[in-house]
Amino acid sequence: MGKFSGILRQHVLDWLAENVPESRVKHVLRVEETAISLAYEYAIDLADAAQAGLMHDLAKYFRPQILLDMAQKAGLAIDPVDEANPHLLHADVSAIVAREKFGVDDPKILEAIANHTLGRPGMSPLSCIVFLADTLEPGRGDTPELNLLRQVSRQDLFKAVWMTCDYTLKYLLETRRLIHPRALSTRNWFLEQANRSLLHSASEAPKVFISHPSA
Ligand SMILES: [Fe+2]
Ligand SMILES: [Fe+2]
Repeated sequence: MGKFSGILRQHVLDWLAENVPESRVKHVLRVEETAISLAYEYAIDLADAAQAGLMHDLAKYFRPQILLDMAQKAGLAIDPVDEANPHLLHADVSAIVAREKFGVDDPKILEAIANHTLGRPGMSPLSCIVFLADTLEPGRGDTPELNLLRQVSRQDLFKAVWMTCDYTLKYLLETRRLIHPRALSTRNWFLEQANRSLLHSASEAPKVFISHPSA
């Protein structure tokens, strides 16, 4: 992982130790590790996955007004749901911190950081694995639902993203939280892609005629 130097990694870890609680640092390290292992599965650059994973939550503990101010200054589109819940901006703002504080200039990595909470229709495979790693890292729990998502995440990226969106949306509905329109757009886009690739593989499959048992 030459591109993501040990010095920069240590610099980020030192900064995190000062700016987020220890439990969050542990989550970040698990996201880094999960993202690396998913990257290996899908032949994505491991250093990119490590870097995006390690930096995805830089702005997690920024105050709501700081998040809003930084997002506004960067010219980001701010939805009414962001205004009601500025914490949702921490993903986009973490990408700003990665660029401004740590000199990250690779758009792929910045996008993966920015997309880790709400996703984005058509997001890159690197964004997909950081999005999945954030929700599915081992510290999130050991329920049958999460374990199924973990299994799917190693088999089908599109399917894993929509199923993980549904998992999060279900939680938001059950707890009567606001739903950001981008979370729905992400879910719809990935569901459609997953259905399309299913149709595609079905049309390529050899035709097998099975006689109906009642026939
Ligand atoms: Fe986050
Ligand atoms: Fe996170």
